[in-house]
Amino acid sequence: MTMPRSPRKRLLHLLYLVSTLAAATGDQSLSTVVALGANIICNRIPGLVPRQRAICQTRPDLIVAIGEGAQRGIDECRYQFRHSRWNCTGMDNDNVFGRELRIGSKEAAFTYAISSAALVHAIVTACSQGNISDCGCDRTKEGDLNDEGWKWGGCSADVKYGLRFCKKFVDAREVEQNARALMNLHNNEAGRKVIDQHTRLECKCHGVSGSCTMKTCWITLPRFREVGNILKEKYHHDAQLVEAVRARRTRRPTFLKLKNSRTFEKPREISLVYLRGSPNYCERDEATGSLGTHGRRCNRTSPYQDGCDLMCCGRGYNTHQFVKTWQCNCKFHWCCYVKCNQCSERTEEYTCK
Ligand SMILES: *[C@@H]1O[C@H](CO)[C@@H](O)[C@H](O)[C@H]1NC(C)=O
Ligand SMILES: *[C@@H]1O[C@H](CO)[C@@H](O)[C@H](O)[C@H]1NC(C)=O
Ligand SMILES: *[C@@H]1O[C@H](CO)[C@@H](O)[C@H](O)[C@H]1NC(C)=O
Repeated sequence: MTMPRSPRKRLLHLLYLVSTLAAATGDQSLSTVVALGANIICNRIPGLVPRQRAICQTRPDLIVAIGEGAQRGIDECRYQFRHSRWNCTGMDNDNVFGRELRIGSKEAAFTYAISSAALVHAIVTACSQGNISDCGCDRTKEGDLNDEGWKWGGCSADVKYGLRFCKKFVDAREVEQNARALMNLHNNEAGRKVIDQHTRLECKCHGVSGSCTMKTCWITLPRFREVGNILKEKYHHDAQLVEAVRARRTRRPTFLKLKNSRTFEKPREISLVYLRGSPNYCERDEATGSLGTHGRRCNRTSPYQDGCDLMCCGRGYNTHQFVKTWQCNCKFHWCCYVKCNQCSERTEEYTCK
């Protein structure tokens, strides 16, 4: 087994190893070690609110999946925005500003939705692999015959468990009562809905030489790339600008309505919502959480966001020339060695000024 590179993941990994050992041996003193370890680790994970820390401490078996979910969300965000000026800064705990995107932009909306979806995905996956003590496969329908003549079987994803836990854990972050909290809660839910609405049916045929006279089916999660694609699509085409409506008596924001709607029309549950337009992310700006695009790689010929014109915001770009070399035309010789030629090519790379 290899140790993960980031310190946070290393801690989680260590805790996981000890907790499985404790479970396997039934050793009471090891359980104490686990509890102690959970305490230390949960106190060191940055950015948890007290309620999340409490969940972390009582459920060390879940924190590994929580950590995996966080990483999965960040990785997918970086993939989806790899060609954009904003490239998911503000999402990871190690970022320079040490905090999330401060303005309620569409980008912030995306980060909440993808993180929430990623947590559900990681938890449900861990459940089906038997890594979590109080969940596993959803066997409520097992053995039942479907109208179409096939039988429920296999390991159906326990999506309900994942959604419930995610709601408890992720939504706990919103301790304040303000417009931004309402926005975050909405986007958390929108992310969870994507998982819930895109589960798939997977089936296996049993019968003589694959004849499929008997079929068993179960529910599986969508691939996380698909979830990322759907949320990116929402970011572009299904994000609604909203504002908070205040209750007359308490003056506290109580719900969101579409901005510029006189009829108090509420946003759709499946849409992302945001409170403010986005900065252009061209320059570094702590107030908005923008790192700027100085030094970013760009593509000289692309007409899209990754093109140097758009990426560098008209500031121009630097050209770096270098020679790329690699092994090529490899041939296998009897017996037993491989001989290759050395190929090379001049290439250029461009970075924003
Ligand atoms: C489940 O546990 C195994 C080790 O038993 C580990 O390799 C795997 O990553 C875990 N899966 C999840 C989703 O946490
Ligand atoms: C994101 O962009 C910043 C500069 O804008 C850069 O320093 C950073 O390396 C980029 N991150 C990734 C993951 O590409
Ligand atoms: C640059 O953009 C062009 C046009 O979109 C594309 O064909 C090409 O593959 C891109 N080059 C790199 C290195 O990504």
